[in-house]
Amino acid sequence: MSRRALFLPELDTPALVIDLDVLDRNIRAMQAFFSAKPARLRPHFKTHRCPPIAHKQLAAGATGITCATVGEAEVLVQAGVKDILIANEVVGETKISRLMGLIRHAALTVAVDDPANVRDLSAAAVAVRGKLGVLVEVDIGMGRCGVRPGRPAVDLARLVQKSKNLDFRGLQGYEGHLVSKEPGPSKDALVRDALSHLRATKRALESAGIPCREVSGGGTGTYKVTGAHPVMTEIQAGSYATMDATYARITPEFATALFCIVGIVSRPKKGVAIGNAGLKSLTTEFGMPQVADAPGAVVERLAEEHTIIKLRGASEKLRPGDRILVVPSHGCTTFNLYTCVYGIRRGRVECSWQIAARGKSQ
Ligand SMILES: Cc1ncc(COP(=O)(O)O)c(C=O)c1O
Repeated sequence: MSRRALFLPELDTPALVIDLDVLDRNIRAMQAFFSAKPARLRPHFKTHRCPPIAHKQLAAGATGITCATVGEAEVLVQAGVKDILIANEVVGETKISRLMGLIRHAALTVAVDDPANVRDLSAAAVAVRGKLGVLVEVDIGMGRCGVRPGRPAVDLARLVQKSKNLDFRGLQGYEGHLVSKEPGPSKDALVRDALSHLRATKRALESAGIPCREVSGGGTGTYKVTGAHPVMTEIQAGSYATMDATYARITPEFATALFCIVGIVSRPKKGVAIGNAGLKSLTTEFGMPQVADAPGAVVERLAEEHTIIKLRGASEKLRPGDRILVVPSHGCTTFNLYTCVYGIRRGRVECSWQIAARGKSQ
């Protein structure tokens, strides 16, 4: 679809839009990759936070959905999703009791890296007579959550295995420190190196007589290597479905489906246009959003409600009332700023989807 086809006068700006043909193609392409691999795809919901997209991913063949928070899991359960991995530690009485509220409605799995948390989860699952799946998270170099590979992971897995109403399913290890590296052989070697910790830990578990059925991890920036690695059983990629300007450099085999339509509100001087999408509509932790359809226009910075755009060449023609398309630099945090996203197909608004898990960070 031509980008011009996304200029829909009926949509007020700033508006978050998805090119549905591209979304569908990305979902099919990622699923096709996994159809020839032993590992399965469990797409991460934290990118789009939008149940209709999760249902498209499930209909295409995903094994279940990954999410980051109990709040996201609540939205998924409400949307009828039956197999959910919260790829994070769920800690504290309030969150655990909310988790237990979901246990009868879906097969739920959480990550753990702490013995006291394992005991709390077990006691809570016993109290509601439910069964909770558990992955022991291993830090494979990211320096975020997770126990060290090998013995510490085996010790925690043994505790999970002995704990009532917990089902030790296996390991989680996320190579998040590598996903945004430029593609190439040296990145692939680093990813394999990180995954070798999971392989060694799985072997250590098996030597200790603890069966390890799942090894879950991976993201859009590493799916080719992680998804083909023999130790992995499921991949948690999220961004591939809608993409963003950062991933466009790293995984160009997926096309950009996510755009923000920005209204031009002022031309204060030559070489400068001001748009109406600021930090409340676009995020900048991965850099500035990229202008998609006005050659010579570059987003220089964002104020709260304003886009400060430098103009050169043909883009000098922009006038107040015009619209431009920009590609968010980070889809996951951008979705979280909107209550709804419009689905566009062949120049028409086909649907308006509520971003139901927007703000569900608790
Ligand atoms: C635990 C976990 N798994 C997977 C991902 C991959 O997400 P993406 O495919 O958007 O890079 C992330 C991203 O933050 C994550 O935190």
